[in-house]
Amino acid sequence: MSRNFFPSATRWSSGSSSCSMSIVVWSVVGCLLMLHLYSLICQSDIQNKEIDTSMSRHPLLLKLEEVEEENIKMPRPRRRSPRAAKRKPRRPTAVIDEFLDESSQIRHIFFPDMKTSIDPTKDAGNDSFFYYPGRIWLDTEGNPIQAHGGGILFDERSRTYYWYGEYKDGPTYHAHRKGAARVDIIGVGCYSSKDLWTWKNEGLVLAAEGKNETHDLHRSNVLERPKVIYNNKTGKYVMWMHIDNVNYTKASVGIAVSDSPTGPFDYLYSQRPHEFDSRDMTIFKDDNGIAYIIYSSVDNSELHIGPLNEEYLNVTRVVTRILVGQHREAPALFKHEGIYYMITSGCTSWAPNKALAHAAKSILGPWETLGNPCIGGNKVVRFTTFFSQSTYVLPFPGLPGFFIFMADRWNPANLRDSRYVWLPLTLGGAADQPLEYTFGFPFWSRVSIYWHKRWRLPDILREKK
Ligand code: GAL
Repeated sequence: MSRNFFPSATRWSSGSSSCSMSIVVWSVVGCLLMLHLYSLICQSDIQNKEIDTSMSRHPLLLKLEEVEEENIKMPRPRRRSPRAAKRKPRRPTAVIDEFLDESSQIRHIFFPDMKTSIDPTKDAGNDSFFYYPGRIWLDTEGNPIQAHGGGILFDERSRTYYWYGEYKDGPTYHAHRKGAARVDIIGVGCYSSKDLWTWKNEGLVLAAEGKNETHDLHRSNVLERPKVIYNNKTGKYVMWMHIDNVNYTKASVGIAVSDSPTGPFDYLYSQRPHEFDSRDMTIFKDDNGIAYIIYSSVDNSELHIGPLNEEYLNVTRVVTRILVGQHREAPALFKHEGIYYMITSGCTSWAPNKALAHAAKSILGPWETLGNPCIGGNKVVRFTTFFSQSTYVLPFPGLPGFFIFMADRWNPANLRDSRYVWLPLTLGGAADQPLEYTFGFPFWSRVSIYWHKRWRLPDILREKK
């Protein structure tokens, strides 16, 4: 027996409202289905396009997208006396503990020694042009490359690549008991290359200040993540970098200029951009010549992004707050088919953590988080960004959708011995994380960084450069 608690009039109106409710519900379902259908069509369009481009690619490029697994064999636990084991039972060590442990028996896996170094001056025959993420990489004089936290400028005029980064070839120490490991400022190193594999040391293009203790570049301070772009209007090469004091409380950016990519760069000044604290940062030059600064701010809890002035020597009044409350740093920005992408890391000092990819239609936002771009290796490898931290993403003008992801494998015990992790980054397929503004429908391309123990640019790409 059905029980009815409503008077008839109410029943009637409730009947009509449930009827209009169901119309609304069905309309919404219909709309969602249409949207879904549309997104599937777009998706298959994108996939078809990808298949088309991949068909026209050199087969070696497909090789770069192969998923390579990594099997890190854990060392046998060290022997302990039964008494010690009883007093403090040992928790099982994880791969990340081994990575962070300077005396780990498997240290050579993360920091292979000089014997395995990449030496482009030696005729390696069929082994030429291979990148080995994590191995020591020698310049043309046989010294380990010193360009940490760096970025690459392709100089159209000389058709040469210039790699700028922190020259850290000094002793590592702690200024305070609780302070992060550091190396005194030596300067910004610059290396030139035509093939992105053989690097000639062009020397320090911006050197530390030896005497004046109040100077930003005094060796007791911090200079990190230098990046250089070329200003077509002024004909100057402009360098922006993170400038700080030993306690990281100055939290500023420094600006330097030069007439030549190989310097010397004149240091102009430092500032807190838009009057905000600024730590990890990068700059990005858009196709239309407008350049932007992106920096971690408000104690690294969010990123700020804003255009530079025409000369690239200052910020403007325009700035937006992005990824608010997400605590991201080490931003590396790139663009593909009108969409902006960015890789960031979490904030764990020199220790590696999980990278995230982000995308935006407008560089000033809103930015959406797409998920972890790392593919292959194993779970730990993927969740530590291949034991490294993003610094730059280098585009290939000749091959849209293909990039080199550049990262630093920091060695806090000996920062000068930090390694470079370069890996292929491609765009394509659906993003793997439901998104805020698209009702869970994939909208952006997936950003994928593929783990390889060794890889090289396909000949066709090397020829294109
Ligand atoms: C990291 C940052 C590095 C450096 C380091 C110092 O979080 O990405 O560039 O500043 O901290 O601890």
